[in-house]
Amino acid sequence: MGVTALLAQLQPIGRAASGGYRRFAWTDVDLALREWFASTASAAGLSVTTDRGGNQWAWWGDPDASGPGVVTGSHLDSVPDGGAFDGPLGVASAFAAVDVLRAEQFVPSRPIGVVNFADEEGARFGVACAGSRLLTGALTAERALALTDPDGVSLADALARAGRSARVLGRDASALGRIGVFLELHIEQGRGLIELAAPVGIATGIWPHGRWRVELPGEANHAGTTRLADRRDPMVSYARLVLAARASAIRHGALATCGKVRVEPNGVNAIPSQVTGWLDARGPATDAVRQLVAELTELASSEGGTVAEESWTAAVSFDTALSDRLADLLGGVPRLATGAGHDAGVLAASGIPAAMLFVRNPTGVSHSPTEFAEPADCEAGVTALVAALRELAR
Ligand code: GLV
Ligand code: MN
Ligand code: MN
Repeated sequence: MGVTALLAQLQPIGRAASGGYRRFAWTDVDLALREWFASTASAAGLSVTTDRGGNQWAWWGDPDASGPGVVTGSHLDSVPDGGAFDGPLGVASAFAAVDVLRAEQFVPSRPIGVVNFADEEGARFGVACAGSRLLTGALTAERALALTDPDGVSLADALARAGRSARVLGRDASALGRIGVFLELHIEQGRGLIELAAPVGIATGIWPHGRWRVELPGEANHAGTTRLADRRDPMVSYARLVLAARASAIRHGALATCGKVRVEPNGVNAIPSQVTGWLDARGPATDAVRQLVAELTELASSEGGTVAEESWTAAVSFDTALSDRLADLLGGVPRLATGAGHDAGVLAASGIPAAMLFVRNPTGVSHSPTEFAEPADCEAGVTALVAALRELAR
């Protein structure tokens, strides 16, 4: 089946009123996506396994007998009101590419695998790329078991509800050992390929990035009877912090986003008792991102608050020899870096040869219901992926 038809099958799953998607890890919506992955793989004659971290693998050939294999795929979960392509395009393209290779009676010299990484966005439990980090050991079982969602549901309970045991969480050496090389196809999440006038590109690397939780305590009190001078209002501190994040990002040539906030008790006519805000900071240079966070930590502290790191992903440079080989094969497609995080980066950081193909995004918009890719560009992505798999498994 072609990539557009495969994406169309996913279209109703987890659709929100915004037109975007709410596909959070280990919810019923996620289970429906996982069921789609398993049944699509089975229909294609691939054998499906699940690793200790809950990542799903569909194998053409036996990676234990004749591996390690060539793996491609991405993730199916989304950010709140995310688009239809961030993640699913990579999984659907992987299945479409396997279909093409089968139809042309290609005989791979080593197994080819398709993967659906669990909880890439970290939208529910806060840690991005949780599935691939569990796989490589970058996220320990101990830390994973301490994660809770905004309703206080622990990851262990969410897994149990999904019929999985949290006892098996942990680095999965067997699943890792089956990956000889990983190639992730992904929609581009900026305007790079528009400017380069190319439907497909190859990633050079991923900017360093992280997430921080800011806790600002205050004093609950009446909105109508508390003099301004007597207030301890953490919302005002938070407002200062948001503006400072923007100014600091400009100064350091970095990016700072304050996209999530929790206010207690969240009443119109009450001064908040507590504000918890999250900062996402990224940039081409590690020092710049670190300086930005240090400045905000100092500001939060002067406001009586604290800043805690929830995740940090060091800069990733993808395997140059592998990317060169793919660029030659694909006829000199452009290369570009990205500020978006990916499971391919987690695998690369753990020493697995990894590369990424990007498909043009005609608006550059992502993590939004309006995220889009032209069908012809998606097809160009599949064609590039087919050529790459043929080369890597010949
Ligand atoms: C994932 O898409 C991220 O970059 O946060
Ligand atoms: Mn994303
Ligand atoms: Mn993604």
